[in-house]
Amino acid sequence: MLPSILQNLRIPVVASPMFIVSGPDLVIAQCKAGIVGSFPALNAREKDGEPPLLDSWLTRIAEELDRHNQANPDCPAAPFAVNQIVHRSNARLDRDIEICHRHKVPIWITSLGARVEVNQAAHDCGGIALHDVINTVFARKAIEKGADGLIAVAAGAGGHAGPLSPFALVQEIRDWFDGPLLLSGAIATGRAVLAAQAMGADLAYIGSPFIATSEANAPGDYKQMIVDSAAGDIVTSSLFTGVSGNYLAPSIRAAGMDPDTLDSADPSSMNFGSAKAKAWSQVWGSGQGIGAVRDIVPAAQRIDRLAAEYAAARAAICA
Ligand SMILES: Cc1cc2nc3c(=O)[nH]c(=O)nc-3n(C[C@H](O)[C@H](O)[C@H](O)COP(=O)(O)O)c2cc1C
Repeated sequence: MLPSILQNLRIPVVASPMFIVSGPDLVIAQCKAGIVGSFPALNAREKDGEPPLLDSWLTRIAEELDRHNQANPDCPAAPFAVNQIVHRSNARLDRDIEICHRHKVPIWITSLGARVEVNQAAHDCGGIALHDVINTVFARKAIEKGADGLIAVAAGAGGHAGPLSPFALVQEIRDWFDGPLLLSGAIATGRAVLAAQAMGADLAYIGSPFIATSEANAPGDYKQMIVDSAAGDIVTSSLFTGVSGNYLAPSIRAAGMDPDTLDSADPSSMNFGSAKAKAWSQVWGSGQGIGAVRDIVPAAQRIDRLAAEYAAARAAICA
């Protein structure tokens, strides 16, 4: 049985958190349109000496969703989620946990590491914790450490994708886990959301299609590249972060590299000089599902389309 907070969404979709790209504008638009919106806590970056931006983002999200709910009691906003990067490189983790606990964040998404204290903090303030995993070994560890649900990150996902087919990954997790299970990786249509459910997931977890929305915090050229590209333009490499991830080949070319020879490239000897960091910040991430993204639209319009496609797919397949 799904926790009540994940029930009664307009469609069974959680918008995934995306580094830099997801902020309060996108999250508020996603939640108002009826799906769970999310952002990485680390996206709220204040300058030294300023009060924590995460605090004011959470206040704004809660206030705007409250206002929406008062004005629209018949179609209330979906809940929101905050992503914590549980990695030793995240020096802000304890501070961000305290802020999210104080704001009673309803859904906590953890990635790059599972920790008992983070799950306890989520539960202590009445929330649930979902952990993203790329295989069953990490999935079992996450549940042992107190996560309520799992996000199966399959091949073709944007960001740090796993190598496994979604069919294999969901089936192996469902063998022993009957709690909340989300599936991610190249899901970009309502039909694919229904397919994720048919495979055994409860909800779909969608990122890249929301890069091409008006509310996404991304340069116009990045949004347009999502529209102009398809699965064949996505390259998998560990060169940029040390962990295998999926990137847009045209952005790699634009940064002066050859996407076909990345595997053999030595990052320390690449010919960027001091421009290296800048060039790499212009290498843009994406999953393989973007062939279905044909325009830059407000997030609500993308969600309306997903909902219409999902209803049509159900009518056609479940009749
Ligand atoms: C540009 C980009 C940035 C991402 N940043 C994060 C992040 O900061 N934290 C995280 O947990 N996942 C991150 N992800 C992964 C997503 O949460 C999610 O697993 C993925 O987008 C799903 O695949 P899809 O993009 O094909 O829909 C990112 C994905 C993209 C495309």
